[in-house]
Amino acid sequence: MHILDVIEKKKNNLPLTAEDLQFFIDGYVDGSIEDYQASALLMAIRINGLSFEETLALTKSMLYSGDIIDLSTVKGYKVDKHSTGGVGDKVTLIVAPIVAALDVKVAKLSGRGLGITGGTLDKLEAIEGVSIDLTEEQFLNQVNDIGFALAGQTQNLVPADKKLYALRDVTGTVDALPLIASSIMSKKLASGADGMVLDVKYGSGAFCKTIEVAQQLAEIMIQIAEGFDKSIVTVLSSMDNPLGRTVGNKNEVKEAYDLLKNPDEADANLLNTITEVSTYMYEISSKKSHEEAKKAVLDVLHSDIPVQKFEAMVHAQRLSDDIKPIELEFTPDYSVDVISTDAMTGYIKNIDAQTIGQISLDLGAGRHTKADVLDYFAGIELLKVKGDEVKAGDVLMKLYASKPVPTEFVTAAQNAITFSAEKVNPIDDKIVLKS
Ligand code: URA
Repeated sequence: MHILDVIEKKKNNLPLTAEDLQFFIDGYVDGSIEDYQASALLMAIRINGLSFEETLALTKSMLYSGDIIDLSTVKGYKVDKHSTGGVGDKVTLIVAPIVAALDVKVAKLSGRGLGITGGTLDKLEAIEGVSIDLTEEQFLNQVNDIGFALAGQTQNLVPADKKLYALRDVTGTVDALPLIASSIMSKKLASGADGMVLDVKYGSGAFCKTIEVAQQLAEIMIQIAEGFDKSIVTVLSSMDNPLGRTVGNKNEVKEAYDLLKNPDEADANLLNTITEVSTYMYEISSKKSHEEAKKAVLDVLHSDIPVQKFEAMVHAQRLSDDIKPIELEFTPDYSVDVISTDAMTGYIKNIDAQTIGQISLDLGAGRHTKADVLDYFAGIELLKVKGDEVKAGDVLMKLYASKPVPTEFVTAAQNAITFSAEKVNPIDDKIVLKS
């Protein structure tokens, strides 16, 4: 077989066999298939799609491209969680310690930022001294001791996704449902959890632009999970606005930590999202009713346990203890205010997540190429969010970076906001699909 034959087949919209897909994954992982050949096939898949059978075969080839975590030494129910990617999405950093505080184990392998969407690994590395490269032994010990660990795909876990994910990020092939589904599900299945909650985002700042597409993605992932006998819940939520009040890396960690310390002062939509996701994670783990699980989540969130779990994770994954407390870390060198003009008044109807994600990336919080080094201080703080009332002269956002902030970013940020004369509900509806 030659990779050119596989590319030609998909270019001509012919179905790929399980052997074709296995050949592609094996060759890309061992380096005999080059980046440019893989890019061509990915683009053909992006344009012509994959059937469910092809998607399942791709997922299996990716899953078995490396090791599979054996969680049998971890006591109790193991639940996993994954987001399809969003702007300001710091949900993992919040829900993992909450669920761990309820005695459920979360052994989570996360990803890096992809396009305009942020990644948990980048956010974790923005905490001074924190490592995401845990050995399997460290990872399992931490899950047993603290209840959760957040690590990168080291130790030869789904090496196919590691390489493909980075390539897709820079070749315009992220937003293909079969590629997203196989990427997420191969990682989730290799992580060995008993059940999983998938946070499927749709809207301008997500890979799925409409709720219908998000629903299709959720259905593919549910079908794959069923084939592997795993419990799964998908929570579909809007990413038309950034989630919460920060977009970036270090500032998002601070928002997550602050929410765990003081949930009553958190952004309402972020609080609603993390409550829903934690509730489903606890519900499938404990087999309690939705109402009982939600009450348990809210009770534990108002205790000190989740924040202590978060601190224990930072301590365990830090290479040195001689480091400033988390809340003192966000000290960017440059900050510029985005101020409302006379024409920008009323209730905020929408802050376009795609524009905000792009500005944050351009400020240095994301990557244009695989080799880009992140500026952990780059990002955006939203002082006003959807539903807030705005008067002329109010500070709407702050743009942060370690280098001067170009003025065109301020204009772009102003143009991202639309207003309404009527009150607007700040909390987005959620749709839940289960197996
Ligand atoms: N998250 C993933 O893990 N993979 C994708 O392809 C998109 C979002």
